[in-house]
Amino acid sequence: MAEILSSGEALERALALLRAGDVVAIPTETVYGLAGDATNGIGVARIFEAKGRPRFNPLIAHVADMAMAERLALFDPLSKKLALAFWPGPLTLVLPQRPGNGIHPLVTAGLDTIALRMPRGFGGDLIARLGRPLAAPSANSSGKISATTAQAVAADLGARIKLVVDGGATPVGLESTIVKAEGDRLRLLRPGGIAAEEIEAAIGMELLRGGAAGIEAPGMLASHYAPGAAMRLNAGTVGEGEALLGFGSQRADGWRRAAAFLNLSEAGDLREAASNLFAYMQELDRSGARTIAVEPVPFDGLGEAINDRLSRAAAPRDNTQPTP
Ligand code: TXA
Ligand code: MG
Repeated sequence: MAEILSSGEALERALALLRAGDVVAIPTETVYGLAGDATNGIGVARIFEAKGRPRFNPLIAHVADMAMAERLALFDPLSKKLALAFWPGPLTLVLPQRPGNGIHPLVTAGLDTIALRMPRGFGGDLIARLGRPLAAPSANSSGKISATTAQAVAADLGARIKLVVDGGATPVGLESTIVKAEGDRLRLLRPGGIAAEEIEAAIGMELLRGGAAGIEAPGMLASHYAPGAAMRLNAGTVGEGEALLGFGSQRADGWRRAAAFLNLSEAGDLREAASNLFAYMQELDRSGARTIAVEPVPFDGLGEAINDRLSRAAAPRDNTQPTP
């Protein structure tokens, strides 16, 4: 069972776990978050695993200050204005990523945008001490309601995590409002802890609402993760000139012929595989092979999400429709 420590006494223990690539449930002003180091793929994969999130949905990167935010993303003037007006607070801004920002691609589900938020209280102190952004979705099992007390977190996730930091009931109790920069306008992606009207008053402009399919559910476009190379899944053999993306210790027939080879996890660890997936797909794509053959990955645990991403990457490339 997870240890519950008050926010006054938990800082060093939380830092040690995060530095070791583990996850920690922390209070924020909105809801409790399940936090991991956003630059550490294993830590980020553990978040998905602990939540049992069936698909990789991008996570919010939490920052300590404006300097950290600007190292991660490119701010347009309106978004900057909102950050200065509402941070720290329950506002999340979706912005273009700054290239080379060190964020693990699992955090953003491989998108070129990133969701940023500066939380109040313990989370902010923790991030400042760690010196790195924290990826954190709400600290609840997938499909359950967000937790607003440490006890609710422990009852739900206690068997799967080591530490819940108790900061009392979260003051906002509702997730952050998410706004996305779109040209010289801003779009409301998720209503939340700051009313849309407050945001509109601050920028002197109405927010765009609704809109193009897929925006609210990024990463759900069938071909979103498609590399330049074709993808051939569940490969039992390797063809001439194919690159091979492996899993586990059993190799596909003819693997020595592969033009390039990377193994998602020699040990067959799905968490390790999840944290390597996007980067390895990108690296094999850069090898110039026309096809990437992929060894079978089991469907249990994080395997479902890995297979989901692999099949999206293998889907017909002209498909821009969201899939169920
Ligand atoms: O208040 C909150 O926002 C809480 C606390 C812990 O900070 N976090 C939270 O995270 O609600 P989560 O994972 O439950 O919701 C994050 C939402 C998801 O709907 C995700 O699709 C969206 O943010 N999101 C993340 N990155 C995005 C991006 N690059 N573009 C569009 N939406 C994004
Ligand atoms: Mg949530």
